[in-house]
Parts: sequence; structure tokens; C-alpha cells
Amino acid sequence: MAQPLPVQAQRGRDLKPLWLLASILGITLLHYNTSTHYLLLHEIYQRLYYIPIIYAAYSYGLRGGLAAAVLSTLIYLPHLAQHADNRVYAINQYAETVLFFVVGVVTGLLAGKEQRERRRYEQTAAELQSAYDELRSTVDQLLLADRHASLGQMSAAIVHEIRNPLGAIRGAAEALESIVPHEHEKAEFLTIIKQEVERLNGLVTDFLNFARPRLPELLPTPPHEIIDAVVKLAKKQAEQAQVKIITEVAEALPFVRLDAEQMKQVLLNLILNAIEAMPDGGQLMISARQREQVLRLAVRDTGKGIDPTVREKLFSPFVTTKTRGTGLGLAIAHRLVTQHGGQIEAIAGEDGGALIEIRLPLNR
Ligand SMILES: Nc1ncnc2c1ncn2[C@@H]1O[C@H](COP(=O)(O)OP(=O)(O)OP(=O)(O)O)[C@@H](O)[C@H]1O
Ligand SMILES: [Mg+2]
Repeated sequence: MAQPLPVQAQRGRDLKPLWLLASILGITLLHYNTSTHYLLLHEIYQRLYYIPIIYAAYSYGLRGGLAAAVLSTLIYLPHLAQHADNRVYAINQYAETVLFFVVGVVTGLLAGKEQRERRRYEQTAAELQSAYDELRSTVDQLLLADRHASLGQMSAAIVHEIRNPLGAIRGAAEALESIVPHEHEKAEFLTIIKQEVERLNGLVTDFLNFARPRLPELLPTPPHEIIDAVVKLAKKQAEQAQVKIITEVAEALPFVRLDAEQMKQVLLNLILNAIEAMPDGGQLMISARQREQVLRLAVRDTGKGIDPTVREKLFSPFVTTKTRGTGLGLAIAHRLVTQHGGQIEAIAGEDGGALIEIRLPLNR
């Protein structure tokens, strides 16, 4: 990720030191160009040095104040030699240069203290903001978990009641198939019945998975095995949709303790979503890499991207933009990944497509 530019760089170059230098030089020029007879003018000019000294101290703290005081003194001292014949005046002026340092140091110390306090306040404000963000995300997760739990109990009951009659309908359709000849004009209705039963069965299986997911059986698994298996499963559908699947699995990835079946289900849901998001074909990239103690699996596509209307609640159940979608695919994926102690997140893809990333801890 690109590092943010330092504040100074964002605002352009800091020209303050140049202005300070120019003003000290300007005041000194006034001294050197004014006859030593005009003592009052010289006294006024000398006090002008306080302006850049105080400003430098205010802007850059103790170091700024000292640097401006040293420069003003060094540049001014040779001029004092011109007043050597007026001893009282010269001593008075030397004493005044000591005040340059006093003013520079005191203002610098005070400004430095103020800056440190301001930075502390800013840091506290940033910490508070991040604590607030974390709290919000925890509350969101709790709400989501609560929604999942109540939905789970409800759908588990319904699913049981639906599955049995579905089995009976399928059985009856198969029995009829053996009676009705294939070439019969109404035979296609049997095919439709079987297809729709399959679809409903898939749907209630999704409900059940979501309602009562079994606990993952974590076994050390090489990540490429899971990716290869799901690519195989999705190959036909991808070909039909003219979607090219590209895999990018980093070398020497460690074995990861996970439930291979569940993780395949997660990846398959993401892959099917990606294929469905590219009705006119496109590219589907599946990658696996390790960063520190985390395995990052990503599914990226070149489709139309995630609809802004569902972006916020993408992982909630029944959120869908598809006429025949249940909106359970990502909710199930979220639940399974969470059960693995991981995270799943949708990131805006660079080329307008979608990018879903799964992060699984390696040190469990
Ligand atoms: N790769 C993607 N590109 C664009 N939109 C996506 C992508 N993946 C998910 N979405 C959006 O998120 C919604 C929810 O996805 P989810 O998989 O949960 O349900 P679904 O695909 O609509 O239905 P199903 O239960 O059949 O999976 C989708 O309807 C779609 O709008
Ligand atoms: Mg889906």
C-alpha cells in the first residue's frame, strides 16, 4: 500500500527558514547602510532582530530560537565594531545581544512544550478514534452474530420439514421417468421437476449449513490442495461463462490447520459469485500468500464490482441482488471463516471488479 506523504511534503516545501534568513539579513543590511551617527535608528533596527528570533523559536522550538539568536549575533557583531568609539553605546548593544539568546531560549522552550502537548493531544485523539472504530466493529459483529443465531434456530426447524417431502418428490419423479418414455411430449416436465427439486435441495442445504454449521475439524493442509480442488469443481461453470481462472499460489507456503471441506465451500462460494458477476466473461484470480503469521487467500474478478447497495451488509444473510439468489453464500463464508479464527473482507478491486480476501491465522 502506498505510504501517505509526510504532512510537510503534502503542503509543499517549508519556506519559513528562507524568510527568517532573509529578514535577519535585511535587518543587518539596514545597520550597515545607516550612518553610525543615527544611534536611535540603530537601536530600533537592533530590536527588529527579536521578530525573527521569536518567530524561529515559536516555529522550531529551542533549536530554532538558538539558531536565529546565534545568526543574528554573529552577523551583527562586526557592525558593533563601527561603534567602538562610543564605548557606552557599544557595551549596551553587546549586552542586548545576550538578550537575543535569553528570548530565543525562553520562547523556544515554551513553544517546544506547547508543541509536545499538542502532539500528545493529537495522539490521544487518534487513539480514541481507533478505540471507537474498534468498538463499533465489535458491536456490528455482535449484532451480526445475534442475527445469525436467531436465524439459525428458525431455519434449522424449517429445513427439516422441507427436506423430507423434497426427497419424496424426487423419488416420485424418478419413478415416473421409468414409466413415461423419453420421447413423450410431457417428459421434459419431469426434468424440470428434478432440476427444481435439486435447486431447492441445494438451497435448504445452504440453510442448514448456515443454521447449524458443524465445528471445523482442523487438520494441517497445504493451501494449494484446496485451491486446486475448487478450481476443478468450478472449471466447467467458468468455461461456460468464458471466465479464465488464474491461480497464484506462493511457493513454500506452510501447512495450515483448517477444515478442508469447509474452506473449499467458502472458496467455492466466492468463485461462483465471481463467475456470476462476469456474465460476458472475464478473469478470475485466486491467490494464496503468507504475510507474517497470516495466510491470505484472495479471489479477485474483473466483473462489475460489488453493488453499493449491498456493500455495507455483504456478509449478512439474505442480502442479494440476484433474482434467484438466496444471499446466503457470503453469510456462510463469513461464518465458516470466523469459526477458523480468521477474517473475510471485501476490498474494492483496482479494475472495478470485486476482491474478497480471507485471512487465516497460521499460529493457532
Ligand atoms: N464477486 C462479486 N462481484 C459482484 N458482486 C458480488 C460478488 N460477490 C458477491 N456479490 C454481491 O453480494 C451479494 C451477496 O452474495 P452472496 O453470495 O451472499 O449471495 P448470492 O450470490 O446473491 O446468493 P447465493 O446464496 O446463491 O450465493 C450478491 O447478490 C452480489 O450482489
Ligand atoms: Mg453467492
